[in-house]
Amino acid sequence: MECLNINNVSAGYGGGLVIWGVTIRVEKGELVTLVGPNGAGKTTTCRVAGGILQPAKGEIIFKGDNVTKLNAEEMYDKGIVYIPQEENIFPSLTVSENLDVAFQGKENKDECRKKLFERFPVLGERSTQKAESLSGGEIQMLGVGSALVLEPDLVIADEPFSKLAPSIAEQILDVILEMKNRGISVLMVSETNPERTLKKSDRGYFMKAGEITKQGSGKELADEAAELMI
Ligand SMILES: Nc1ncnc2c1ncn2[C@@H]1O[C@H](COP(=O)(O)OP(=O)(O)OP(=O)(O)O)[C@@H](O)[C@H]1O
Ligand SMILES: [Mg+2]
Repeated sequence: MECLNINNVSAGYGGGLVIWGVTIRVEKGELVTLVGPNGAGKTTTCRVAGGILQPAKGEIIFKGDNVTKLNAEEMYDKGIVYIPQEENIFPSLTVSENLDVAFQGKENKDECRKKLFERFPVLGERSTQKAESLSGGEIQMLGVGSALVLEPDLVIADEPFSKLAPSIAEQILDVILEMKNRGISVLMVSETNPERTLKKSDRGYFMKAGEITKQGSGKELADEAAELMI
């Protein structure tokens, strides 16, 4: 069953395009990874899928509905959680206040908070500390973990491993695989160690200079990752 279809999307900033004719499909419970060099347009693609940026052309279909014109808040209400590459938390707010923002409008927010603190006790221990005092790994636990407990239909995670030590990146990848195993669809951008993440992904897309230049199973792309990233 199809969850997300990015169909022939072109988008950019201030009237200039930076991605052209991008088509990506994510089925229910699939982990799909987007890789490519710096400036390829990976973040722009995620922004369009998350409703942060309106495409100039093409359409976004989510569970059969055309959501192209929806904004980020409306996408969230539909069941899409977008975890941006940067500024995915509010540094001057406490961990607990960040969760108030992450879980806003959800009826089961107390349950989500409890589940998150059970899964990541360190966040419970630091709940009254400002988020700026967290380590990079703890920040990603907050971002990715709060998406996990919300159990949306789709998570878009832009570079959830950037600047993390390998062992912490492995833990975050485990959380992403846990989401997938619960039937949550995940579109993830991975630049750090793409080979490792592609190997664990169902499918992957390679993007270069604003276009998708290759797609295949995670394993197929993993074998070619080193060559493709040049
Ligand atoms: N807010 C913006 N305004 C203008 N141009 C932008 C903006 N954000 C990105 N761009 C440009 O769009 C192009 C694609 O950028 P994008 O951030 O989507 O690439 P990326 O693949 O995510 O790169 P990275 O691996 O560095 O995160 C780049 O040329 C970039 O300079
Ligand atoms: Mg990016």
